[in-house]
Amino acid sequence: MRNIEEIEGGKVVGSAKIRKNRREEGFYIQDLSVDENQRRRGIATRLLKKIREMITGTISLEVDETNEAAVSLYNQNGFVIEETVNAKNGKNYLRMKNKN
Ligand SMILES: CC(C)(COP(=O)(O)OP(=O)(O)OC[C@H]1O[C@@H](n2cnc3c(N)ncnc32)[C@H](O)[C@@H]1OP(=O)(O)O)[C@@H](O)C(=O)NCCC(=O)NCCS
Repeated sequence: MRNIEEIEGGKVVGSAKIRKNRREEGFYIQDLSVDENQRRRGIATRLLKKIREMITGTISLEVDETNEAAVSLYNQNGFVIEETVNAKNGKNYLRMKNKN
């Protein structure tokens, strides 16, 4: 597990964790989040770019299908839906993937 950060003015304004994928070459992204007061300024987009430059192979993630901000962020950054997962908590998650 590795933590990736975006820093502005000495403060962490966004971060994500990446974890190696055991099933194929590539990584999972987890817990991508941007400071509430700094959203819609391209910080998450920068984090995704940084992650893409760091690794080879696929980047996979799961996102709550009702999380419109995150789903559009991923769509805009080249992620495609692989499948919908019905979780036990009644929510649907989209499994998305981006190929380098
Ligand atoms: C999802 C999240 C990480 C986006 O971070 P961000 O830095 O604001 O994203 P960006 O500024 O890079 O946005 C890039 C694109 O994503 C889409 N997007 C981002 N926020 C959006 C919103 N609230 N509504 C609709 N689309 C949105 C837009 O297409 C946007 O491009 P635009 O601003 O040119 O229209 C942020 O809203 C967040 O931290 N949310 C809470 C945590 C979370 O849900 N994480 C995802 C877990 S899978």
